[in-house]
Amino acid sequence: MESAGEQTTPDSDRGCIVETEAHTGKRLENTLAKKLKALTGQVLPTLKRGDLARYFPSSDERIIEYDIDSLVYEARSPFQKIQIMHSKTLGNMLILDELQNIAESDLIYTETLMGRGIENYEGKEICILGGGDGALLYELLKEKPKHVVMLEIDELVMQACNKYLNSICGDVLEKRKTDQYEIVVGDCVEYMKKFIAEGRKFDYVFGDLTDIPISGAPIGECWDFIRTILEHSFMLLKPDGKYLTHGNGTTCLESLELFEEQLRLLKPKVKFTTSKAFVPSFMEEWLFYQVTFA
Ligand SMILES: C[S@@+](CC[C@H](N)C(=O)[O-])C[C@H]1O[C@@H](n2cnc3c(N)ncnc32)[C@H](O)[C@@H]1O
Repeated sequence: MESAGEQTTPDSDRGCIVETEAHTGKRLENTLAKKLKALTGQVLPTLKRGDLARYFPSSDERIIEYDIDSLVYEARSPFQKIQIMHSKTLGNMLILDELQNIAESDLIYTETLMGRGIENYEGKEICILGGGDGALLYELLKEKPKHVVMLEIDELVMQACNKYLNSICGDVLEKRKTDQYEIVVGDCVEYMKKFIAEGRKFDYVFGDLTDIPISGAPIGECWDFIRTILEHSFMLLKPDGKYLTHGNGTTCLESLELFEEQLRLLKPKVKFTTSKAFVPSFMEEWLFYQVTFA
């Protein structure tokens, strides 16, 4: 059998033997594989190369291969790189800074986050932090709340989702203000401070921010910023209000423990329950939190 390192392609036109770029690449891969095996005993993983990104990380940083067949949209906003990619099985997917956020397949994400069938939103006042894909706002409006305000930092995310994730957000991102809801474009922390100063209160606050939220303020650690969001959220909640958010993949025990540590640091004290769902576009099970005053 011919070894990959010795593969050659006859070039009949020139009557000589030439090596194509693919062969050079394969040769390099084989050399790397042999060296890696000899030095570390590890095997070089099988990866498909090409123009389209097809590998995204799981929450515990394993590589997952997606069946991406086209890049539908790409732009860089002042806050993040925004991509909509099409997956044969998941539909259009929103990717922010190379991380999966939501796909057309993910109604279960939104339904578990909002506790559909468990929570009663009728006549309630709701605040969404982030949520730029519009799916949570779209599903909540079906439950007849009194009013929803959504605080999203990135106008461009909403424009992209309005155009390419229409099946999960309907037409809610078309208008910025109706009798039922208002979408405010800005840093949620700034607007939360404003609402607190005005004495505004909500029955529900949703944390539907990116896993590492965009901080407008120079707050060092990501966890400090997440705690700032939590503290402000509880200042906005009515005494019997609820804070609902996604946690992390259920395999990320350390990160979930860190999040729960932030909850334990809150004053006044809070208590929480959790729920789980397998999210198709994350290709893993995620944990969701329901937090109330203790
Ligand atoms: C698209 S949603 C969905 C979250 C999601 N399902 C996930 O997997 O993380 C997240 C949104 O949070 C927004 N965001 C991040 N930091 C923010 C901030 N400080 N204020 C308001 N919106 C923010 C992002 O622009 C993004 O549109």
